[in-house]
Amino acid sequence: MAREWCVRKAGIDDAENISRLINVSFIPEQRSLCLYGCPGSENYIKDLIAIQDRGGDSLFLIAVGGEELLGFVEIRRLADSICLNYMATAEAARGLGVYKRLMKDALLLGKEESYQKAFHDVFFGNTIRDFHERIGYKVTKTFLWRATDLPSGMLPPRIVLTNLPQADVIHSRYGFSQFGLTLDTGSFTVGRLNTMWFRATAPTIVNNRDALHVLKHLEPSRSLLSICEQEAVLPTDLNFRQVLGSFRLEGEIDQILTQLK
Ligand SMILES: CC(C)(COP(=O)(O)OP(=O)(O)OC[C@H]1O[C@@H](n2cnc3c(N)ncnc32)[C@H](O)[C@@H]1OP(=O)(O)O)[C@@H](O)C(=O)NCCC(=O)NCCS
Repeated sequence: MAREWCVRKAGIDDAENISRLINVSFIPEQRSLCLYGCPGSENYIKDLIAIQDRGGDSLFLIAVGGEELLGFVEIRRLADSICLNYMATAEAARGLGVYKRLMKDALLLGKEESYQKAFHDVFFGNTIRDFHERIGYKVTKTFLWRATDLPSGMLPPRIVLTNLPQADVIHSRYGFSQFGLTLDTGSFTVGRLNTMWFRATAPTIVNNRDALHVLKHLEPSRSLLSICEQEAVLPTDLNFRQVLGSFRLEGEIDQILTQLK
């Protein structure tokens, strides 16, 4: 590994290495259930980087030593906080403070844009959580990632699918997509991951049997992944199994920057 390293904004040409670093940094069980584990994630990263200086909501910072990618962080600029969406350091560069520096620079960028709060998610079992808590992040939510087969059943009388053709095009480029589903009993956003999963992040759709029947009818080979807060009540007869869990860590940017000095 090169002795000198620096942090800079990523360019489109860095997308391939960022995607490769994600692949080696997260275990297959995690990757297979995440957007960035989908087969087109490199295209997605490339497209996000292409618009990062023209108002895109994502910004990728990378640490480089010579030609080598040592680490990266994706900063998502949301309405009232920044989300440090994905972060990883290359195996050969661990323990050298690369992550700390990326976190610091990401928070400084957020502060420059007048953000006061930052958050990110950490999988259960990842001991880096302790470091985050040491520098001022607090766990504010716990998410359970639960999977089940979809039930078959009678279809409701009115089914309206919104943006499905567009979602199909996006899916072929990124390997994930989302579309809208409206029934007499409610409107829902439905995510699709790779070839195996429908992804739901709200308990309302998981508890709407009509909606689940429609999804089963639409793509019978997909199962359902529910990523909801642990308090969310899911239908017991669907026999959900927990596949992963994650903590949401939130903090005040100023306070964390003081700890990172
Ligand atoms: C977690 C990870 C990003 C750490 O990167 P790193 O560059 O080695 O971290 P740094 O050298 O900057 O260390 C930062 C601090 O975290 C601590 N730390 C590093 N890895 C740690 C780990 N696995 N568990 C607990 N603490 C850890 C260090 O001791 C240091 O704390 P200190 O300043 O109080 O001594 C890296 O191991 C990685 O990419 N892991 C896989 C992907 C991942 O977990 N990403 C984070 C998702 S939120």
